[in-house]
Amino acid sequence: MFTQTVQDRLNDQINTEFVSSYNYLAMSAYCERHNFLGCAHWLRVQSQEEYGHGMKIYQFMQDRNSKVVLKALPAPRVDFQSIVEVFEQALEQESQVSAKINDLYELAFNEKAFAALVELQWFITEQVEEERTAREIVAKFNMVKSDPAALLDLDRELGARTGASAAAPAAE
Ligand SMILES: [Fe+2]
Ligand SMILES: [Fe+2]
Repeated sequence: MFTQTVQDRLNDQINTEFVSSYNYLAMSAYCERHNFLGCAHWLRVQSQEEYGHGMKIYQFMQDRNSKVVLKALPAPRVDFQSIVEVFEQALEQESQVSAKINDLYELAFNEKAFAALVELQWFITEQVEEERTAREIVAKFNMVKSDPAALLDLDRELGARTGASAAAPAAE
């Protein structure tokens, strides 16, 4: 079993992943409200992925006979200035999550929680990918600016993302 400190921080990370999931869902709702259905789909898939990350740590804690403690989720931001601001927030969120994963890895290392180190390696790799993807999308939105034809193309491109998106209109 892990030390209390390691368990506490793993529980914090479950919360962080669920907060990400909830934030992405609010971003998806904003995009759908403004008829960016491709973006809405992409963000809803992302929300599901973050839920999956939370559940991955949840299951890991159960497997290690640790106590799962679920915590409250703050209400996400629901309004944005523009579609690019949505993805800027996504990028910002991913950088913050990466920092938390790195801190957690350092703690697990210091506490000699070797099983947690192995588990967290998956998350470190995942964060590299997630930051890169968010950065690319922000760059693309900055490139197209407010050109309607290019915006529509980009929305369509994001709408082509595959993955679990329960009941997402764009996937139907
Ligand atoms: Fe995540
Ligand atoms: Fe993420």
